[in-house]
Amino acid sequence: MTDTRENDDGMPPEADAVTCTGLSYAFGGSKAVDGLDLTVRSGEVFGLLGPNGAGKTTAIRCVTTLLPVPPGMARVFGHDVATDRMGVRRLLGYVPQQLSADASLTGRENVSLFARVFDVPRRERAGRVAQALEAVGLADAAERMAGTYSGGMVRRLELAQALVSAPRLLILDEPTIGLDPIARTGVWEHIMAVRAASGMTVLVTTHYMDEADQYCDRVALMHQGRIRALGEPDRLTDDLRARLGGDSAPTLEDVFRDVAGSGLDDGGEFRDVRRTRATASRVG
Ligand SMILES: Nc1ncnc2c1ncn2[C@@H]1O[C@H](COP(=O)(O)OP(=O)(O)OP(=O)(O)O)[C@@H](O)[C@H]1O
Ligand SMILES: [Mg+2]
Repeated sequence: MTDTRENDDGMPPEADAVTCTGLSYAFGGSKAVDGLDLTVRSGEVFGLLGPNGAGKTTAIRCVTTLLPVPPGMARVFGHDVATDRMGVRRLLGYVPQQLSADASLTGRENVSLFARVFDVPRRERAGRVAQALEAVGLADAAERMAGTYSGGMVRRLELAQALVSAPRLLILDEPTIGLDPIARTGVWEHIMAVRAASGMTVLVTTHYMDEADQYCDRVALMHQGRIRALGEPDRLTDDLRARLGGDSAPTLEDVFRDVAGSGLDDGGEFRDVRRTRATASRVG
């Protein structure tokens, strides 16, 4: 059944959350993102994976309008990031890779600041701030200075900052980096609970393959500025198993090593994943 109604933002409701078409971005002469084609469907949790320097953060900064790109390269729910920056920003919540909370403000003040910046109507602000703090489990710590928070609490505070504007698309750049396993699970449980309640789309980068495998509907593996593999985590591991043959049981980490270990001109050869894993476990 096709729904032909329009949303408040004038876009058809079936518009994909993110569409990148030949997205490119260079710092000086060096191309960080090099012809990226990618679609994130509305409502899914999408993982953007890849080795250090692959271009993930750069691509995300283009999508969030923080880096300028020509028209036609990236859209958010149909809004072109080049020609409709405010339209895009209104739909987004963004947790950057670099820490963004202010240590000298309380948790509540930090979230209030974002509510103001993102134009949450004045009379709704206090309620929405309280709701966002509650959603990430920080209601009891809301009056403490963010500087006294643990790493996991800071990341959850930043999640609350991104959630306070009730975004349709939440973009998280390494939301769990440096956290202990329990704090990582805590961050993800809050993300998944808000997503279940609101139906928002989530685009996330992570270096933790177990997280990608567990929480992402689909993942893309990025390397040297482009997407090298894309699909449901199970599909990607099945594909690698079919290529390896025998009794191999590759994980998403093996898929990552397979993609990240291959240069541009290797003609699509794959390495011996079992040997790679054995080496990896030897060197820790
Ligand atoms: N502000 C900048 N100035 C110059 N070069 C940059 C800048 N930001 C990123 N780069 C370069 O662009 C490339 C892609 O970097 P980017 O941060 O997008 O990678 P990433 O996939 O997010 O890596 P990581 O997993 O380490 O976060 C790298 O070669 C990096 O050195
Ligand atoms: Mg990055």
